[in-house]
Amino acid sequence: MDENAFRKLLSDLPLGGLRYFGQVGSTNDEALAWATKHAPDLSLVYAEQQTSGRGRMGRRWFTPPGAALALSLLLRPSGTEREHIALFSGLGALALVTALKKYGITAQIKWPNDVLIDRRKVAGILVETVWMGARAESVVLGIGINVTPESLPPPEALTFPATCVLSEAPGPVERFDLLHILLEAIIAWRPKLASDAFLGAWDASLAFRGETVQVWVGEAEPTLGQVAGIEAEGNLRLSLSTGETSVVRFGDVHLRPL
Ligand code: BTN
Repeated sequence: MDENAFRKLLSDLPLGGLRYFGQVGSTNDEALAWATKHAPDLSLVYAEQQTSGRGRMGRRWFTPPGAALALSLLLRPSGTEREHIALFSGLGALALVTALKKYGITAQIKWPNDVLIDRRKVAGILVETVWMGARAESVVLGIGINVTPESLPPPEALTFPATCVLSEAPGPVERFDLLHILLEAIIAWRPKLASDAFLGAWDASLAFRGETVQVWVGEAEPTLGQVAGIEAEGNLRLSLSTGETSVVRFGDVHLRPL
């Protein structure tokens, strides 16, 4: 799809701005740079191919041309949203779970922010915040979705089993329709950020519920516990073998099933 057709497809959405790239280093980098140049709220950066896509924990994110969706949505958080910055990655994940449901796919959220289908990763989310002192000026919600089998990284580059939308959907999925539906879902969920409905839907989509997982927080030894649910602010509740509950805060964390 060329840029004009792309712009037309999204023209009914209340986007603040739109930048389309055939190829770019990283849409998150473009959005972060745009954030310093007064980009309006809900500005979208989209690329057909990324040459240095970034993942969480300093990992690389593979985006070959024509096979994936790679986008960064620049949000200017309102006063209330600023109190819940950690929930924006949940917003991206939950919106994608909602969008995939329209295609008959039940996806789950591997806390904090990977989207899985049948225990395999279909999408990753990288949220980056621009701070002015203690004030969050902009949030860049970067979302990478494996759509066709060509979007999957080579097996030796995988840190977790992966899949793509087309391999899991019971029927056809048009890549740009999925993008449109995803953006609609983000726009619809955003006003509910931090509400009971939002946290409840996130909780209901949690992957590995009741299973024992290991959670690493920074450099510390991993915590072992059963996934019990989502707490306020998107923190993860684990049941420990001692019978105690541990709450893991969202941040520099990763989680693995045993
Ligand atoms: C992860 O699972 O580690 C997060 C992956 C996030 C990838 C997306 S693709 C669009 C945006 N631009 C980037 O450079 N990264 C994010």
